[in-house]
Amino acid sequence: MFLRMNKLFRSLVFLFLFLGFLWFGSVLWFQWRYPQLHWDWSSIDTDDLTFPPSFLWGTATSAYQVEGGDTNSQWYLWEHAKDRQGNPRILHGDTCGWACDEWNRYPEDVRLMKSLGLNAYRFSVEWSKIEPREGVFDREAILHYQQLCDTLLKAGIEPVVTLHHVTDPIWFAEKGGWEKEENIQDFVKFAIHIVRALGERVRIYCTINEPAVYAMESYFSGTFPPGKEDLRLTALVLRNLLIAHVQTYHAIKALPGGKEKYVGIVKNITLVDPWNKWSLPDWLFSRLSDQAFNGTTIDFFRTGRFRFWMPGMVFLNYEDTAAVHSLDFFGLNYYSHYLYHFSFDPKKAFKPKIPENEIMTDMEYSVYPEGFYRAVRRVAVLGVPVMVTENGIADARDDRREMFIRRHLFALSKAIREGYDVCGYFYWSLLDNFEWAEGYSKKFGLYAMDPVTLERTMRNGARVYGEIVRRFNPIAARPPSTGRVIVDCE
Ligand code: FCB
Repeated sequence: MFLRMNKLFRSLVFLFLFLGFLWFGSVLWFQWRYPQLHWDWSSIDTDDLTFPPSFLWGTATSAYQVEGGDTNSQWYLWEHAKDRQGNPRILHGDTCGWACDEWNRYPEDVRLMKSLGLNAYRFSVEWSKIEPREGVFDREAILHYQQLCDTLLKAGIEPVVTLHHVTDPIWFAEKGGWEKEENIQDFVKFAIHIVRALGERVRIYCTINEPAVYAMESYFSGTFPPGKEDLRLTALVLRNLLIAHVQTYHAIKALPGGKEKYVGIVKNITLVDPWNKWSLPDWLFSRLSDQAFNGTTIDFFRTGRFRFWMPGMVFLNYEDTAAVHSLDFFGLNYYSHYLYHFSFDPKKAFKPKIPENEIMTDMEYSVYPEGFYRAVRRVAVLGVPVMVTENGIADARDDRREMFIRRHLFALSKAIREGYDVCGYFYWSLLDNFEWAEGYSKKFGLYAMDPVTLERTMRNGARVYGEIVRRFNPIAARPPSTGRVIVDCE
C-alpha cells in the first residue's frame, strides 16, 4: 500500500514537472519567436531620419468620410437606424451629412496639401455615387473624380486611388453584399469601369481597404452594417474580399496599359501580443487571434492558401494560386497593437487590455511606434514594396500628434535604413472627418475642421509633418509643376 502510494506520488510529481517544463518551455519559445519591442525613447534622436528621394509623402482620406451628401450607400441607412435597444448606431447619434464637403471644397484642400509640400494623396472613389443603381453609372460622379485627379496632377500631387473603402451601394448590400461569392463580379465590373474612366491620370490603385476590419466590424462585433455577429460569415466575407482583390488585380492588368498600373491591397496590421508574457493561454489566444486577423491575409498572398481557424468556432479553407502574384505593393495601415488576456468569455477575451502608464490616443489605441517597425518587417515576407497607406492619431488636444508623427517616422526610417523596401507614407488624415461608428468625436486631422462652418484650421501636427516632408521631398522644394510626378514605387 505504502509502496503504491509512493509510486503514485512520484508519478504525480513527474507529471507536474513535465507540465511545468512544457509550459515554461513553450512560453520561452513564444517570447523568442515573437519578441515585443520596447525602445528607450529618451535616448533616441527622432530627427535622425532617412528617406529616399522618390518617396511618396501624402495624406489619406476616404470618400464617405469626407465628401458628404451620400444617400446611396448602406452606411446612410445604418446611421439613420437604431440598434435593438433603440439606441443610435453612431456615437452621439451623429450622421455623416455633409462631412467636410470635400466634394465641393477639394480645390481648397489640394492647396492645403501643396502648402505642406506633399506629393501624393490617397483618396477613395465612392462606388455608391458612381453606380447608384446596378449597372447604371453616373457620368457626373465620374467627371468629379476626373477633375479631382486633374487638380491634383496640376499641383504636382500623385493621385493614389482606393476602389473600395468600407462603403457599398445599397443595391449591392441588398443582394447579400460580400456574403455571396457571386456578387464579387459586381465590384470587379465597377473597378474596371473606373480604371478605364480615370485612364492615364491614375497610376496607383488600392483595391480594397482593410478587408479584415470590414469583415470583423460588420460580421463579428456588429458595429458596422449589416451589424451581424457570426464568425462563420466573418471568415467568408474576408475570403470573398480577398478573392475580389485577386480578380480586380488581374482584370486591371488585362486592360490596355494595365501592366503599367501599380495595384495593391490595403491591410491594417494590428499586432496582437499577450497581456501576460508568462501566461501560456495568453500566448496561445493572442497567436490564434493574430493569425486570424493578420496571418490569414498575409499567408493567402504568400502561398495562395486561405485558412481561417478559430478552434471550436470556424474553420474555412480555400485555395487560389492566382493570389500569389497579385500584389505590386502592400498597402500597410498601422495604428497600434492589442494586448489580449485569455478568457472563456469571448467578449472579454477580445477586449484589449491597456497597461497603466501607456500613452493613449483618443481612440482605445496606445501609442506604440515599435509596432510600426515590426509591422513593416512582418509584411516584408511578401517580397513587394510596402506603401504605408495610413498611420495617424486621434488627438483632439493636438498634444500628442507631434510626438506620434516623429516617433512613427523614426520607426519607419529605421526599417528603411535596414533595407526594407518602403515607398511611401500617408498620414491619416488631412482633416477631421466622419470616423464611422465613432461619428465626429475623433479628431484625426492635420487640420481641424469646424463642423458648422467647415473651416479648416492648421494644427501643430501639420506644421511638424510639413517640416519633415520638406526635408526629404525634393519636389516640394520646387514650384508647383504642371505635369505628373514621377515617383518610383517599383
Ligand atoms: C482605418 C480606416 C479609416 C479610418 C482610420 C482611423 O482603419 O481605414 O477609414 O477610419 O482607421
